[in-house]
Amino acid sequence: MSVPREKYLSPVWRDGIFKDKVLFCTGGAGTICSMQVRAFVALGGNACIIGRNLDKTRQGASDIASVRSGSYVLGIGGVDVRDPKALQAAADKCKQELGGIDFAIAGAAGNFLAPMAQLSPNAFKTVMDIDALGSYNTAKAVMPYLIESAKKHKNTGGIAPTGTGGRIIFLSATFHYTGMPLQAHVSAAKAAVDQVSHAISLEYGPFGITSNIITPGPIAGTEGMERLAKSDEKSKVRSMKRVPLGRWGETKEIADATVYLFSEAGSYVNGNTLVVDGGQWRVGGADMGGWEYPDFLTSGGQVEGVKSGRKGGDGGSKL
Ligand code: COA
Repeated sequence: MSVPREKYLSPVWRDGIFKDKVLFCTGGAGTICSMQVRAFVALGGNACIIGRNLDKTRQGASDIASVRSGSYVLGIGGVDVRDPKALQAAADKCKQELGGIDFAIAGAAGNFLAPMAQLSPNAFKTVMDIDALGSYNTAKAVMPYLIESAKKHKNTGGIAPTGTGGRIIFLSATFHYTGMPLQAHVSAAKAAVDQVSHAISLEYGPFGITSNIITPGPIAGTEGMERLAKSDEKSKVRSMKRVPLGRWGETKEIADATVYLFSEAGSYVNGNTLVVDGGQWRVGGADMGGWEYPDFLTSGGQVEGVKSGRKGGDGGSKL
């Protein structure tokens, strides 16, 4: 499927910044990761995408390769991130066929909504295994290759004549920041994913590696939203009101964040989390007290009906 460039990349990045570099991405045929990989390939790189489903992964690789003539995108299907041996074999094959691994994205994830009352121990474990263990397995499989790349493309803070390398990004979620009903399993798993990334930033930073987390909020047109949000108009409007920017995000906005962290612009960013959610997770307490967010702000009305202690004044200017 051909995707217009503006759907996966802002026009602010320079072509060729990932020339001759290789990205290894688990879950690379998925709705978010495929856009991250597209952006990387469009800017000059080659990639290896990993997935469980053979056809989906092969087709995904061929779709992504179409963004730039002369690119090489290898799709390795039949690989479950819960299986460290299969992942290692995939990373080794990527090195053999594409010459190395300079960047990695641990993107494979599993999710469904379920209250704990309907969550079996195996259901909880399944998501822990895919997200937490799978991300850990991915990091272990690629780390020696990332270290090789970091040695070749030194992170000095100055202009990098041969570009960057030796960087890993984990995809996470914000659910565990505040707690989330129906997501006990994913909240626990993503909290673990975050800690794997932080540990890498500390333990492998001295080898030139950077490790960061991208945390997408509600992103339109993704499998995640199909699994997490009702699709009727009323539910969508309600969901968008919970985002300070008043809309769902675009997959391009996750791809742009990826390019930033992998590019020279992100060289000194390590051990961090880039939350790309329009400010959604901070809305947690916004309705406390009975005001509907964001209507009470956009109406320009006064705070009324509560003890305020304010003495006179006109309340300042209205928006
Ligand atoms: N509610 C409650 N339990 C559920 C569930 C749901 N909606 N869906 C699956 N489970 C349970 C199963 O019943 C099973 O538990 P049990 O053995 O006690 O019955 C357990 O989870 C594992 O299910 P299974 O289908 O065997 O796992 P799988 O490894 O084949 O699939 C999933 C993993 C469940 C995460 C599946 O949804 C998946 O493959 N997702 C991949 C894509 C994805 O989730 N993307 C989201 C990106 S945000």
